[in-house]
Amino acid sequence: MDRPIGMFDSGFGGLTVARAVIDLLPHEHLVYIGDTGRYPYGPRPQEEVRRFALELGWSLVKEFDVKAVVVACNTASAAALDELKAELPVPVIDVVEPGARALTRATRSGEAGVIGTVGTIGSGAYDRAVTATGAPVHLTSAACPGFVEFVERGQTSGEEVHILAERLLAPVKDAGVDSLLLGCTHYPYLARVIGDVMGPEVTLVSSADETAFVAREELEAAGLLRAPGGAPPQHQFLSSGDISWFADLGRRLLGPELRDAIQWHHD
Ligand code: DGL
Repeated sequence: MDRPIGMFDSGFGGLTVARAVIDLLPHEHLVYIGDTGRYPYGPRPQEEVRRFALELGWSLVKEFDVKAVVVACNTASAAALDELKAELPVPVIDVVEPGARALTRATRSGEAGVIGTVGTIGSGAYDRAVTATGAPVHLTSAACPGFVEFVERGQTSGEEVHILAERLLAPVKDAGVDSLLLGCTHYPYLARVIGDVMGPEVTLVSSADETAFVAREELEAAGLLRAPGGAPPQHQFLSSGDISWFADLGRRLLGPELRDAIQWHHD
């Protein structure tokens, strides 16, 4: 099956999921759209994020003929997963359920935490996803407004982000969690700062790898995996914002596969 896998995020965060998918499924073509022209999604009303998510999902299906859509954004998953699954004619894979499952596996004490955007945390999507696993886990949540903006500026370390992290992570730290889910695809880029603030005894869980495993399972089950041995995969990266910035910072974050970026126009 030579059709590409489609992915989208509000910006650079979904590249953490793209990296995991490229590593786990090295024969697959990928089309990634970063909606940097309209980021951040976190503070926007759910209704608006839902509209953006459906527009992106349909663009991937109609313009790029993708065989599956990976919603590489927690905020969009939390706001629009049901609608995307109901409307799109291809399998839709999200980051929330895989992340919640990975968290329940990681915690030893049952005291676990999740951090995300205001939209994701406010939606209660992680409370529902963790409850749905049936695992005896007590979840403490904290929204981290400002983290995404640091990543989008390419500022992933330093005094300023550290001070913000100390303040925003206080609720999960005070709760004594032993595992913390990075419930926003941008946050793995801040993992050093977050790990430093939380301390070495707290396990950081990222949904990127888990999501890639789910993508492989679903594509395999649907007979949609691309066979090895053909021409090398070709990836396309699109952005609704400044494409030279997207290519430059994106390459630093993802790696050499992101050679250049193409303009994507939203409605
Ligand atoms: N990377 C996104 C997420 O996982 C959203 C960041 C944003 O645009 O606020 O939630």
